[in-house]
Amino acid sequence: MQIIETVAALKRALKNQPNIALVPTMGNLHAGHLHLVALAKQEASFVVVSIFVNPLQFGANEDLASYPRSLAADYEKLSDHGIDIAFVPSVIEMYPHFDGVNINQTMSISMPPIANELCGATRAGHFSGVATVVAKLFNIVMPHLAVFGKKDFQQLHIIRELVQQFNIPIRIVGGETVRESNGLAMSSRNGFLSAEQKKNAAQLHQELHTIKEEILNGNNEFSALTQAASQSLQGKSWLVDYISVRNAHTLAPASTQDASIVVLAAAILGNTRLIDNVEFLR
Ligand code: PAJ
Repeated sequence: MQIIETVAALKRALKNQPNIALVPTMGNLHAGHLHLVALAKQEASFVVVSIFVNPLQFGANEDLASYPRSLAADYEKLSDHGIDIAFVPSVIEMYPHFDGVNINQTMSISMPPIANELCGATRAGHFSGVATVVAKLFNIVMPHLAVFGKKDFQQLHIIRELVQQFNIPIRIVGGETVRESNGLAMSSRNGFLSAEQKKNAAQLHQELHTIKEEILNGNNEFSALTQAASQSLQGKSWLVDYISVRNAHTLAPASTQDASIVVLAAAILGNTRLIDNVEFLR
């Protein structure tokens, strides 16, 4: 596996590669990321994994500085998985106009209203930052396909919109969410949880599962269902950001006619904000 830090060196290494898959990550890799890597390997003959903690997608009060970084361990995992290139650019390499303090000189992609809903409601600019870095990575790597996790369902939706609206000729592959044995969705931020919190963190998935079961049993009272789940979590000392029943294709609030449903949630346990979702057909 080659570890490459500059765009120029990456371009050289990728020249004439006929079938490239890209898996963008922010590192601190876990089994969820590695599942996407395995999917990429199935679909393409050459796999690039990017590791870049993207300052553009973190708000002023978010955890950019404390975001977990574990490059040496990440390289070992990627190399064990037969990855061809780990692309690990610096902030200056990705954003030459970023002076380290403000990003005013950096162009970014403007977003449709969905980017201000769900996670976007409390994370202003987050999805613009995600779309911008992903568009840059697409232009740098020029992969044939790129793999993203359904764990970040709204992010995957926005990336599908990005490639469609900007006519980007890259196939987007969505990978299933990998979970701990108790149901907790794997996340780089799970490392912030204590052992006790890690046990309790599965409650989020359990509540989403309960909503799914209710809907599958014919209960169409979506707001009553999400309110009950919020209350249940709040009673277990969670701070609920949102729980919402949506159309899985459009992410519009679900109607009783919709067949393809996703229930999405974000909630804070201790100091750690966790997200999860369940997608299903009815
Ligand atoms: P990061 O949180 O590192 O996630 C990288 C990819 O792994 C994303 O596509 C995410 O959805 C996927 N992923 C995370 N946890 C997963 C799990 N438990 N199961 C399956 N897939 C999982 O998402 C980002 O980085 C960034 O926003 C990025 C797209 C790299 C842009 O900076």
